[in-house]
Amino acid sequence: MRKKDHIRLALQDKTTVTSLDNYAIDYNSIPRFGLADIDTSTTVCGTKWDFPFFINAITAGGEDCNKINNDFVEISKITGIEFFPGSYSPALKNEEDAKAYPKGYSVNLGLDKEPSLILKAITDTNARYLQMHTNPLQEIVMPEGDHNFESWFTTLQEVSENSTIPVILKETGFGMNEETIKLALDLKLAAVDVSGMGGTNFARIENGRRDNKSVYLENIGYTTAESLENVYPYRDKIDIIASGGIRNPLDVVKCLALGAKAVGVSKIFLDILVNDGKDALIAEIEKWKKEIKFLMILMNAKTIQELDGKIRKLN
Ligand code: FNR
Repeated sequence: MRKKDHIRLALQDKTTVTSLDNYAIDYNSIPRFGLADIDTSTTVCGTKWDFPFFINAITAGGEDCNKINNDFVEISKITGIEFFPGSYSPALKNEEDAKAYPKGYSVNLGLDKEPSLILKAITDTNARYLQMHTNPLQEIVMPEGDHNFESWFTTLQEVSENSTIPVILKETGFGMNEETIKLALDLKLAAVDVSGMGGTNFARIENGRRDNKSVYLENIGYTTAESLENVYPYRDKIDIIASGGIRNPLDVVKCLALGAKAVGVSKIFLDILVNDGKDALIAEIEKWKKEIKFLMILMNAKTIQELDGKIRKLN
């Protein structure tokens, strides 16, 4: 029920912060490359991806949510963009959900889970990546949330030491500071997904589910752009993934120019799938693939690496 509530409330939720609008990409009046010259591939956690944007964790568990994931699997196969399924948590309690969870993709769990269960989930899902999501603000807004924060770091440590696949520390819409990226470096994690403010806001969503609200908690954290600035100096030491409020190919390219290796999209793609259907989302993704190439042409960048720094902050 909570998962279905999240989808309904996330789709109603209106984005208020658009930090990426404060940046402008380099623009060249005389482009030097054509579409055939442009290579949109990127390397994330040591694996080559054909495209630098992907469907980020959204859902899993329950008939409706599992159907959404099946659609995303199909869309990922048809378009060639990567797909990261949502939390494996329902699958830990329910065999049907465990069976339905996409296999051979990524597995997503929160830092409140037992390390042994997390490591078992890797094998059970035949996952290629482990997304460890962190959502302290959401847990604080929920009276029934996990409030044993003192175990979260040791869980991440134990999992990172024993994981057989790359571990990605993933925020869920409140961004990351420099201290967090330093912890990720200490633990030798493969990547961080900074998932900043500007899109889905789980403090707001959880407040929307109850009468006794703590609205002030909705404005804590770092925007996606601030988070990328925080982690930019470390981009050669750990893979940076961006997400949070990504609306269009221009946002994707801006994040890449701000040092990200890849960019995750949740709400916008969910919205298209739920309201307009699978074919509409496939068409939209194809449009993004082509328009990212056009933007790279305007920036005189043949590769994703060449985008690095081709951006300026507006006053
Ligand atoms: C999410 N997100 C999420 N993240 C995660 O790590 N595990 C999860 O299970 C979920 N579940 C989930 C459900 C719904 C309905 C939404 C919209 C989002 C968070 C998501 O991956 C992302 O970090 C944020 O939503 C910010 O990106 P957008 O939505 O602004 O593109």
